[in-house]
Order: sequence, then C-alpha cells, then structure tokens
Amino acid sequence: MQNRENAFAPTGIQKQKNVRILAIETSCDETAAAVVEDGRHVLSNVLYSQIEIHRAYGGVVPEIASRNHVEKLPYIVQAALQEAGMSFAELDAIAVTAGPGLVGALLTGVSYAKALAYTLKKPLIAINHMEGHIAANYITHLDLAPPFICLIASGGHSDIILVRDYGDYTLLGQTRDDAAGEAFDKVARVLGLPYPGGPEIEKLALHGEADAFSFTKAFRGEKHLDFSFSGLKTAVIQQVRKLEAAGELEARKADIAASFQKSVVTALVENTMKAAQRSGVRKVVFGGGVSANGALRAMAEKETAFEVYFPALKYCTDNAAMIAAAAFYKKEDLAAYATLSLNASATSALQYR
Ligand code: KG4
Ligand code: ZN
Repeated sequence: MQNRENAFAPTGIQKQKNVRILAIETSCDETAAAVVEDGRHVLSNVLYSQIEIHRAYGGVVPEIASRNHVEKLPYIVQAALQEAGMSFAELDAIAVTAGPGLVGALLTGVSYAKALAYTLKKPLIAINHMEGHIAANYITHLDLAPPFICLIASGGHSDIILVRDYGDYTLLGQTRDDAAGEAFDKVARVLGLPYPGGPEIEKLALHGEADAFSFTKAFRGEKHLDFSFSGLKTAVIQQVRKLEAAGELEARKADIAASFQKSVVTALVENTMKAAQRSGVRKVVFGGGVSANGALRAMAEKETAFEVYFPALKYCTDNAAMIAAAAFYKKEDLAAYATLSLNASATSALQYR
C-alpha cells in the first residue's frame, strides 16, 4: 500500500478555525443533537433514548420512533446549543444523518435540519450514519488519522472498511446475513432478555463459561473477510430448546450467553485483524454499538501487531457528536448540500471505491 499518511488536504471549512457544526441524528431510536468544534472537540452531546418505549414491543417500532423524534427534536436541539453555550447564529453549518436507517425516522431529522439551515442561511451537510460511527473515534482519539482498518459492528451492519483517507472507503468484508448486533438482539430474545440484547448478553455472560458450548464459528479460515451469524444464531436456538426440554435452561443461560458472545467476538476480531494484515496498515479502529462490548474490547486489545482504537463507550452507540465530527471531514463544497434530498447514495451504504 502507498504511504498516504499525510494525504489529507484540508478543503472548505476545514481550513477555517473554530468551525462549529450542529448535528442531528434520528436514524433509529435515539433523538440526538450535538455541537462539535473542528471535527474533534465535543462542545455538547445531547441524547434522548426511546429504548424504554420500544422495550415493551421487544424492538424498535418505526412509527413510534418517528413520532417521538418529532416531539423531542426541538428540545434536544435547544439543549445541545445551551450545553455548548452558543446561539444558532454562531453555528457554521448544520449536519444531519441522511441514512442508512428507518426512513420515517430519518425524515424527521432531515426535515428539521433542512428547515433550520434554510432559516439560518447555513450550509447543510448530509452524513452517512456509518461514516459517523467511524468518526466516533476522532472525538475520542484526538490525534487519530487515516489510514486504518475499521470494523463497524452495529444493529444493521458488520462492515470491515479500509479507510485510506478521510472519505476514502473500501469495503473489504461484510455480513452475508444477520449483523453482529442483530445476532446479539435475537439471541437475547430467545433467552428472555430485554431489548437491546447486546448489553444484556454481556452482563449475563460475566457469570457464564465461554467454553461451555462450542458453537460454530462460521467462515473460519476462508479467504474472504465476510461474516455469517445466522447459522450461529440457529445453533444457539437449538441448544436453548434442548436445555429447555431437559429443564436445565435457567441454570445454563449464562453459559449460553458467554459461549455465543465468544463466537461472535472471535469472528469479528479475527477477520478484522486479517484485513489489517492484508492491507498493511498499522492501526485498527472499531465502531458501532457492538464495539461497546467488553469481551470484544479485551480480545482486540490483546493484539500487539497493531495499534487498536475504540470509541469512548458513550460514542459507540448512536449519538450526534459522531455525525458532527464526520461532517467536518466532508471534502465537498458545503453549499452543494443546500438542497439535500434523501437520495439513494445517502440512504443505502457508504460510497465505496
Ligand atoms: O450503533 P448502534 O447504537 O445502532 C445501530 O446503528 O444499529 O448499535 C446498536 C446495536 C444493538 O444491536 C445492540 O444490541 C448492540 O449494538 N450493542 C451491543 C452492546 N451495546 C450495544 N452488543 C454487544 N455488546 C454490547 N455491550
Ligand atoms: Zn448506529
């Protein structure tokens, strides 16, 4: 690989000093707003989580999520400005998550951000949610810069990305079925644990034996860097049914959680490190809700061949500070975003080379 360590050439707002971006994030069940300076310094980070509302349904109900965003957004944005000690007039730009996510939920944030940018005559920057998860590391590690390998493991994605430079992404691996977070959520449900399942499995696993069950580690030793978690999920469900029939489930739930977690974490870490070896980078970066997992962090941090970076825990799961940070590193002329639409490139995946 070429040495592109210093390839980043500042353009547009990146050349200015003290650039303050207000970001809005409403892609799923968190209503969030934040102000970040120069892509690195978090001046405020406000979040209203709807988890308690959705828990009753065992997962996120899109219509309820949208309605709650509409209701809470004005207050959350006000709170973000207040916490930053700023007025609307002092902002340099408005950023908003344009996708991927729940379309109705996204639209509430995009409409609000559009109206704000139009009224204030400020540039509007459309951000891909996944790019935000990568940028969560920029606000945690102030000197971190590309190139690096990044694993984004969330409720909807398990992507291994080569980040050659800011905005320069190559997808090296992804899941062929369930995302890692989705697998955590589904297994948690089978074990009778509440939504979201990841943190619950992690807590339960602390009391269990990770080698109690040997669940398949799909795709081990393959040439590609893709994941598959649905076979693992099925194996866990079958084991749960067996234990249930034998009246042993309650006593073995923690063992199931620990063994399942070990399988997922091992696959994530192995493939990510393999990607780093192949691309010749020195740094490995994690992001997304699953990167809050203690077992994942512990296994990755044992790796001595690479520098390993994780976001601070509060920036692993969805938040708006990561969106504001990502916005700062957009190279395009900001004025071009004045008429933002929810187009295909913004709502589907990152734009890979
Ligand atoms: O990034 P995120 O907040 O939202 C999406 O963009 O999807 O990720 C949410 C996912 C959920 O599936 C949740 O169960 C999982 O991240 N998660 C965890 C942990 N905390 C959240 N998975 C494993 N261990 C955790 N500690
Ligand atoms: Zn996310």
